[in-house]
Amino acid sequence: MKTKIVSIAAICCFILANMVNAQIPVYLDVNQPIEKRIESALSQMTLEEKVAMCSAQSKFSSPGVPRLGIPEIWMTDGPHGIREEVFWDRWDGAKWTNDSCTAFPALTCLAASFNPEISSLYGKSIGEEARYRNKGVLLGPGVNIYRIPLNGRNFEYMGEDPYLSSRMVVPYVQAVQQNGVAACVKHFALNNQEKDRMSVNVEVSDRALYEIYLPAFKAAVQEGKAWSIMGAYNQLRGQHCCHNDLLLNKILKNDWQFDGAVISDWGGVHNTEQSVYNGLDLEMGTSTNGLTTDGTSPYSEYYLADPYLQGIKSGKYSEKELNQKVTRLLRLIFRTTMAANRPFGKFVSPEHSEAARKIAEQGIVLLKNDKQILPIPVGKYKRIAVIGDNAVRSLVIGGGSSSLKVAYEVSPLEGFRAKYGAETIAFSRGYSADLDYRKPESKTIADSLLASAVETARNADAVIFVGGLNKNWFQDSEGDDRQSMALPYEQDKVINALMTVNKNLTVILCTGNAVEMPWLAQVPALVQAWYLGSEAGNAIANIVAGEVNPSGKLPFSFPKKLEDNAAYSYGALSYPGKDNKQEYMEDILVGYRWFDTKKIAPQFPFGYGLSYTTFSYGKPSTDKTEYQANDIIKLTFQLSNTGKTAGAEIVQVYASQPKASVLRPVKELKAFKKVQLSAGETATVELKIKTQDLAYYNDKTQSWVVEPGEFILQTAASSANIKGKVVVKIK
Ligand code: BGC
Repeated sequence: MKTKIVSIAAICCFILANMVNAQIPVYLDVNQPIEKRIESALSQMTLEEKVAMCSAQSKFSSPGVPRLGIPEIWMTDGPHGIREEVFWDRWDGAKWTNDSCTAFPALTCLAASFNPEISSLYGKSIGEEARYRNKGVLLGPGVNIYRIPLNGRNFEYMGEDPYLSSRMVVPYVQAVQQNGVAACVKHFALNNQEKDRMSVNVEVSDRALYEIYLPAFKAAVQEGKAWSIMGAYNQLRGQHCCHNDLLLNKILKNDWQFDGAVISDWGGVHNTEQSVYNGLDLEMGTSTNGLTTDGTSPYSEYYLADPYLQGIKSGKYSEKELNQKVTRLLRLIFRTTMAANRPFGKFVSPEHSEAARKIAEQGIVLLKNDKQILPIPVGKYKRIAVIGDNAVRSLVIGGGSSSLKVAYEVSPLEGFRAKYGAETIAFSRGYSADLDYRKPESKTIADSLLASAVETARNADAVIFVGGLNKNWFQDSEGDDRQSMALPYEQDKVINALMTVNKNLTVILCTGNAVEMPWLAQVPALVQAWYLGSEAGNAIANIVAGEVNPSGKLPFSFPKKLEDNAAYSYGALSYPGKDNKQEYMEDILVGYRWFDTKKIAPQFPFGYGLSYTTFSYGKPSTDKTEYQANDIIKLTFQLSNTGKTAGAEIVQVYASQPKASVLRPVKELKAFKKVQLSAGETATVELKIKTQDLAYYNDKTQSWVVEPGEFILQTAASSANIKGKVVVKIK
């Protein structure tokens, strides 16, 4: 009897469960394949609901389908931390008290680590923070190429080399998305300057486009499987990039088979018809009715809102493109907010602080260390003078959309005090970024800041100057470019004055860009410390004290002067553009490709960076001498740590093709590896190079070509420091 009751109950449960299941529409069933869920949702949506999904409803969100229980898409900047909550219709912070994030180092620092594993750690950590804050899309990473040191946003990108940025962007994207948060790779494409960014019309050869400016985006899409991408503000060949047929339809969606959503940059959309047909899926940030920054913006006036709806109703547009856009937006939602088994993330956890510090430590670059004045171990000196505005200024605030409200930020001064003891450290500002140096009263204040810094330095055993740029307007900041390559706020004068009273001087530069260094010959030690986020001071102090051995290398070349930069050297049409037209006249010769080919010595070359130890490179060899076009070349050599400290070396392989039918740069980076060795240790290093990666882009045939013949593979410690060569033949 008892068993009978139990089995009847079980049958009832089964029927009931099936009835409940039968009521769940396919789009809500997380066990159904995403494409089925999309089909199901799409078939139930009205025309109005579909159109509504294609444009913003607030500064950082777009509508879902409330009637069907399909959630909104919430986005956040990116790319260095999770942006604070802003008001629905305004850019200013909404003063929430639960949104102070961990700031991770700027992407230039990440690129300088030359370490894809560290990039994965970055993506995982920032993805967890985005997830915890309930964001579906992280507006980053940025992979525009470093074309000129004046670009106000270089700090948000991964340097000048397409291979390096490609290798670094993939793990970032993958790890972010493992949190059920979409990466939104930006700004696609050619947004290589801030000046006139909303309008400048870029002309670039196909070859430079494919070889230099697109590879990192392509890698993010094809290998990283990015779920979204952001259009750029500028125009390419007469069409704005947010609705650019060539970039979005042909290259991204057709050639690369991108299946994610194209999101416009905020205010980057200018035309309904082009937005309908040229590949845009979601329009964000358009200013309507003059209500650009404050007040209620009538979102219904967006190009893809009412004008689109009316266009469909009047028969001007069919629903075909609309269904394609909504399909991609639903896919984005099913991959993120409506995904099964989505983790929950975490926010400002100790692991994130640890990750931020680790990334910072791996990206700091030691540029000069005469007579080994660094490191300064704890206890070595009684009195250390710390001078400079950047020792105390917040470097996470400002710079535009990447500005962060942080849970905490350890300044360099705090880092040094914690490391050496407050009694050892004497601080003097030396200069101030808050003064207007053109005004007479500012001059008096500047003089007294300088005089007091000189006194502090005179009485110290060692001096550490912490300067560089900051996130102010016309510095490393969105919206405009730097006006010169010089250090601002008369820092050159301060550095020179410090040198006259104390030669034991270390200069630490926090910048996202190259700067002129007229004092370089006199200054014995120089450290490039980027913008390092929450853990800045701890990471810098660990490096200076020698508790962490520096291992970063430069992801872009530092020219001696601006005129040596390729884009700049061709005059206004090349940079910043003339009458809104711009030609990338240096073509494929960007960064070290230019310096090498034109035989111009940079101040510091791409791939350069010192360590507290030394390395020696053995003779390289390859597994074969001849390869087919689809082979993988295995190159090996011995690397030894010949010093007394453990350390990591970033070994690089550059390829050249001496007899090519087209101009090829003197050398191009094709492989790299960060190798950690204990003191005295030797290891065999193996690097793999795909012969396909030796191709150039033939703009006549519109295809990649590996030209048969001899290639020289060069092992190197930087683009200007070749250690060994092997010649291989490609058949
Ligand atoms: C920037 C984007 C950013 C967006 C939203 C724009 O001004 O160019 O990078 O994601 O604003 O803040």
